[in-house]
Amino acid sequence: HRHLLGINGLSSADITSVLDVADSYVEQNRRADKRSALLRGRTIVNLFFEDSTRTRTSFELAGKRLGGDVINMSVSTSSVKKGETLIDTAMTLNAMHPDVLIVRHQESGAAMLLSTKVDAAVINAGDGTHEHPTQALLDALTIRRRKGKLAGLTVAICGDILHSRVARSNILLLTTMGAKVRVVGPPTLVPSGIDKLGASVFHDMKSGLDGVDIVMMLRLQAERMSGRFVPSPREYFHFFGLTREALALAKPDALIMHPGPMNRGVEIDSEVADDVGRSMILDQVEMGVAVRMAVLDLLCPPATGGN
Ligand code: CP
Repeated sequence: HRHLLGINGLSSADITSVLDVADSYVEQNRRADKRSALLRGRTIVNLFFEDSTRTRTSFELAGKRLGGDVINMSVSTSSVKKGETLIDTAMTLNAMHPDVLIVRHQESGAAMLLSTKVDAAVINAGDGTHEHPTQALLDALTIRRRKGKLAGLTVAICGDILHSRVARSNILLLTTMGAKVRVVGPPTLVPSGIDKLGASVFHDMKSGLDGVDIVMMLRLQAERMSGRFVPSPREYFHFFGLTREALALAKPDALIMHPGPMNRGVEIDSEVADDVGRSMILDQVEMGVAVRMAVLDLLCPPATGGN
């Protein structure tokens, strides 16, 4: 594969090879000296049209720890503010010969569109409500390292499924790897047709969490709900928040996950989010750096030498 635009189109062998490479980078990231020279001379551009803490920072660290040069384009201070389009911005950056362009954009399909216009390898860091492939890969690595496998597990993805690119990428990845996926949320926030991706649909936490191995919570994406019904946080927490009582429905050793950013007291109770033995939220962040190193490693072919 030349680009990473989504989980759609990846085989279980593709996914396994990213996770296997990422496993070795987990160890590198825990050393005092975290640098290697694999991407020496390579240029990586972070182009984020939407806000980010985890994804942008971890791609930057990933590129730097592999010895590459990483540029963070600040869209808010760029000529995008003067009306330059996504394509013209990308073509402008492309003319400077980057090797990798990492893009986050509010429109579904933006990364795919860019990949047809530029020479660089394009990595989708989240496009609208479509896909966020490196998130699903880091979630899979987190689960695999803790549970030893993905196949045969039951994963409940809960909350605002409608607006979630994380949910879509996770459903695609987990079903490809042989896990069972449930989506749990109010009918207004579960898109029709999601079952065609292989997920079973539940509209209450009691039945949705019953006996699951993993509980993955999602944030209510109010910024994508303009003109639509926005649930009141109190009412939403009452029915769909992950509390100790709700978690008791899952297996006793079920893991708690959240891609972040989380809204405590809206989709997840603070006590559950901070559960030292079972909350994987900060492990997910750690795995994010390793997975992004693996993706950069696999997408950057070895230098052929010369000038
Ligand atoms: N999970 C995730 O994509 O987080 P950021 O929006 O902070 O990058």
